[in-house]
Amino acid sequence: QPVPPPDLSTCSTASLPDGLPVPFSCCPPFPKDLSNIPTYKLPNVSKVKIRPAAHNVTQEYITKYSTAIQRMKELDKDDPLNFMQQANIHCAYCNTGYKELGFPGVPLQVHFSWLFFPFHRWYLYFFERILGSLIGDDTFALPFWNYDSQAGMQMPSLYNVVNSPLYDPSRNQNHFPPNVVDLGFTTIDLDASDEQKINNNLTMMYRQMLTNAPCPQLFFGNPIRGGEQPIRGMGTIENIPHNAVHRWVGNPNNKFRENMGTFYSAARDPIFYAHHANIDRMWTIWKTLGGKRRDFTDRDWLDSAFLFYDENRTLVKVTIQDCINNEKLGYKYEDVPIPWKNFRP
Ligand code: C2O
Repeated sequence: QPVPPPDLSTCSTASLPDGLPVPFSCCPPFPKDLSNIPTYKLPNVSKVKIRPAAHNVTQEYITKYSTAIQRMKELDKDDPLNFMQQANIHCAYCNTGYKELGFPGVPLQVHFSWLFFPFHRWYLYFFERILGSLIGDDTFALPFWNYDSQAGMQMPSLYNVVNSPLYDPSRNQNHFPPNVVDLGFTTIDLDASDEQKINNNLTMMYRQMLTNAPCPQLFFGNPIRGGEQPIRGMGTIENIPHNAVHRWVGNPNNKFRENMGTFYSAARDPIFYAHHANIDRMWTIWKTLGGKRRDFTDRDWLDSAFLFYDENRTLVKVTIQDCINNEKLGYKYEDVPIPWKNFRP
C-alpha cells in the first residue's frame, strides 16, 4: 500500500541525528479539524515558468527574490507560510516529528527511499508559489544552483551578500567563492587544483546519472510502502551530489554542521531551495537519458501522499502521481549546457 500522509495531530518532538530531541518544536501549525483535507487541484497552466540558473540571474530578479524571502521572514511567526514554519516542514518530515496516518508507530521519513524526489518537488512547488504570492507575481520561479556545470560550481553569489535575506551566517566560511564545490564532499577538503575538482565533479555526475542509475530503483531509491519502517536505501543522486552539497555548505563548527549540514535545520538556509531545485532538475534530465530511465509505475509510489499549505493557507493533500510531470506543475528549467554528459569515466 502507498505511504499515507502524516497524522498532523500527533506531531511530536523531532529527534536530532544523535537521537536526542530537537531543542524546540518543529511541528508546523495545523488546523483543528483534520477530517476533511481537500486533495489539491493543479491550477491550469497558462504559461510555463522558467526556473533560472542562479549564476545567470539579473539584478532585477535578485531584488524580487530577496523581497519575497524578506516578506516571508516577516510574516507572523505562527503563520504556516512564515519562513521558519516552512523550514519546520522539512524538520517535521525528516526528523521523525510526524507519524504515518493509521500507523502511529511508524515515523515518516522522506529521505533514504523513493519518496525523496517527489516530496522535495512538492515542497519547492508550494514554497515557490508562496513567494510569488507575497510579491504579487505568479510568474516568479525559484533559481537552481547549477553546480553540475563549471559555471555554477561555486556558492552562487546572490546568497553571499551579508545583510541580504538570502544570506545565512551559518555556513562554512572556507567554502565561499571562489572555492570550487566538491560534489562528493565528506568532511575533508580535497587537496586538488580547481581543474581537478571540476573534472572530478563532472565525472561523478556522469556516474550518478548514467553508469549507476540505469533504472528507476537505482535513481530514485528503494521502495517504501505504508506501514514500513523508514530508511530503505537511497538513490544515487540523493547520496552524491545531494548529501555532499549539504555537508559542504554547512558550518563545520556546529555540532551537526547546521544549518545546511543536517535535516532539521537545512531549510533555514535560503540556499537550500536552490540546491533542491537543481536536484529536482536532475530528475527532469535523467528521464531524457534513455534506456529504462523513466518514472516508476508502481501504484504504491504514485498514490503515496503528503500534506502542504498552499499559498492561500489551505492545507491540501497531494500525491506523487500529480507531480511526475513538472510542466503540469507549471515550471521547467532554463536550458543550460550539460557538460557531464560527455564525461564517461
Ligand atoms: Cu530533505 Cu536536501 O534534504
